[in-house]
Amino acid sequence: MALESGYYRTMQSLKKKSIIALNLSKTIVYSFEYKMLFTLSSIFSSFVKPPKLETDKKLIKHLELGVMELHAQDAQNIIDGIYPQGVLIPKSPLKHLKNIPLLLIDSLKISRRRKLNLKKDFDFNSPEVPDYLLRNYHFQTDGYFSEHSANLYEQQVEILFSGTAAPMRRMLIKLIKENSNNNKPLKILELGAGVGTATIDFSKSFDFEKYIVSDVSDAYLEKAKKRLGTLGFEYVRSQAEELPFQDNEFDLVISVYLFHELPRSIRGKVLSEAHRVLKPGGLIAICDSLQKDDDVALNEVLENFAIDYHEPFYKDYTLWNASLALENSAFKKVTSRSHLLSKFWVAEK
Ligand SMILES: C[S@@+](CC[C@H](N)C(=O)[O-])C[C@H]1O[C@@H](n2cnc3c(N)ncnc32)[C@H](O)[C@@H]1O
Repeated sequence: MALESGYYRTMQSLKKKSIIALNLSKTIVYSFEYKMLFTLSSIFSSFVKPPKLETDKKLIKHLELGVMELHAQDAQNIIDGIYPQGVLIPKSPLKHLKNIPLLLIDSLKISRRRKLNLKKDFDFNSPEVPDYLLRNYHFQTDGYFSEHSANLYEQQVEILFSGTAAPMRRMLIKLIKENSNNNKPLKILELGAGVGTATIDFSKSFDFEKYIVSDVSDAYLEKAKKRLGTLGFEYVRSQAEELPFQDNEFDLVISVYLFHELPRSIRGKVLSEAHRVLKPGGLIAICDSLQKDDDVALNEVLENFAIDYHEPFYKDYTLWNASLALENSAFKKVTSRSHLLSKFWVAEK
């Protein structure tokens, strides 16, 4: 018996180490790509200040420790069965490599926009897209409104976060499971789902009868549809602040990295809409950026991000009391925590 449990512990520890090693290898690849794009784009434009992340050894060490903690937690979550091992499957290395020349060219265009402070450098217009969104967030090409942008988006985000965006998103799964006792297949609505990156991991982690993937961008939804297919999923173009759904329809409303891109008044509207479409007892689950003073060592990084990556509502977001806003929208049992550069909230209707 003792021998068996010793064997089991050794196997679990080996499994944990292999998951951490796999995650770290992704971090190394994405960090290398970051260096490459950063060096190239720095030739053409400058950041607000030389990013401290490049020069401040203490800060770099602090972040490295944070990355290790995140990867260890991600591995533990898999071992504990919070989400399946399948979330670790990397996307096709060939597709990843094929994107590199496009990313290099795009980084030059991004740095030109940053230099000239060009905030709307595309022709796309639509009465169905709110004005505040018709801009080059992150100075990215075409904003959220082209196939080109949709094809590059996920890799650009992972490069920016050195391969930690996916494990950070997954921390929300753990918080939801800790706060839910609903064992029936869920009706899930995801807001601002983009190209479906979180959707892939969330759909592997929850038993669901219906999963609505929503976003305001047709191009991003089209990409999400190509990746996820239609079995169990529906794709709905909609603004998160004006949802085309009935009252009391969903068990779970998810939002990942949406709120920091919204003006404060719209954030409140989104919370009210989420509350309206949730069933009583249903949960709202939010993953977004870290906020001011969550980790004092990172305050300056957050401040510069708003300018370097053209995020007009980000500074206000970092000061926003989301727990209070959730309560003001009639949510109760608000829970919150943070991991590395992200913050998470779950609350109940
Ligand atoms: C930063 S991206 C996050 C995408 C995705 N959730 C992820 O984790 O990669 C923000 C997404 O929100 C969408 N979006 C922004 N404002 C929106 C709004 N008011 N209603 C619905 N979607 C919105 C954008 O089109 C974009 O796909």
